[in-house]
Amino acid sequence: MNTEILQPTTENIAACAAVIAGGGVVAFPTETVYGLGADAYNESAVKKIFEAKGRPSDNPLIVHLYSFDQIGSVAENITPLAEKLMYKFMPGALTLVLKKKSGLPDAVTAGLKTVGVRIPSHPVCREFLRACNCPVCAPSANTSTLPSPTKAAHVYADLKGKIRYVLDGGDCDIGVESTVLDLSGEKPRLLRLGGVSREMLEEECGFKIETVTGSSVALCPGMKYKHYSPKAEVLFSAYYENMCGGICEQYDNVEASGGNPVIICMDKNLSKYESRRTYNAGRTYEDYAHNLFALLRKADEDKFGVVIAEGVPSDGIGAAIINRLIKSSGGRII
Ligand code: TXA
Ligand code: MG
Repeated sequence: MNTEILQPTTENIAACAAVIAGGGVVAFPTETVYGLGADAYNESAVKKIFEAKGRPSDNPLIVHLYSFDQIGSVAENITPLAEKLMYKFMPGALTLVLKKKSGLPDAVTAGLKTVGVRIPSHPVCREFLRACNCPVCAPSANTSTLPSPTKAAHVYADLKGKIRYVLDGGDCDIGVESTVLDLSGEKPRLLRLGGVSREMLEEECGFKIETVTGSSVALCPGMKYKHYSPKAEVLFSAYYENMCGGICEQYDNVEASGGNPVIICMDKNLSKYESRRTYNAGRTYEDYAHNLFALLRKADEDKFGVVIAEGVPSDGIGAAIINRLIKSSGGRII
């Protein structure tokens, strides 16, 4: 199959929506990362997503909606807390896990009785979802285990020949995936940290929210798989006072053993690494999140063997950065 990157003109968006209506899959931009979508009510189309990505079929997909009115078509028992959070954070980078509507194909939810629902805010995504006029289920549009795509070119590199169109909406603003909050049980539980921070959610809820950790992986099946891993080995530094000194030492050790390292660092720390090779993650932690997956992919393009990533404070978007780096490093924290 010939894969084309399409600019987001009205005609091209209509062409993408026609592929969805015809039971095909299309990659589209969101404000978090690119998604690979299909009509959530077309089971054979949904299966094509798993094939194209090489995704295990027990990992459920998020359903993307254009408007609040569509929520009732995929979920039931919307609680007052769910409504409150929807009106505060949607459209945006929050996925709510709710009781699934019985008719929604099991392929979407991997047989779970719940469904993840999200209303993205990216303007091109919204035009695309409106043109589709159906719930669109989508995981991130990367080959399974690779870093999520934040540019159309990343999707093209992974899925070339496997899908017809990549709708190009430019670089994804946030750069890490949505926050996944499970509201299907008695107490809300955070299943994945992402674009909406814990602090923002707790302020709106008025209480502390429990985080589900690695020991209860079955609750969020995606958590058990290898993730966000470039070919290069990733080492992730803890955040502490002499972090840059520690990273220099590690870099020199890797280099001495022929490892070809590069450091991902904040703009303000660049000079501390002197002549060592660095990638600038930006001035703010939001920049770091925005650039992280692109830099992990760039390390492979530039043929670096080891990526040493700076640690960040664990509040706000920092928690999502730490989570992604722990996974991409396989827990190799220095
Ligand atoms: O920002 C995002 O969320 C992006 C864009 C494309 O919307 N999507 C995304 O999808 O990251 P994916 O499939 O790569 O990650 C979805 C995560 C997985 O960890 C999955 O296990 C979890 O959400 N998930 C989906 N539905 C669930 C459900 N019903 N219960 C528990 N976890 C669920
Ligand atoms: Mg993913």
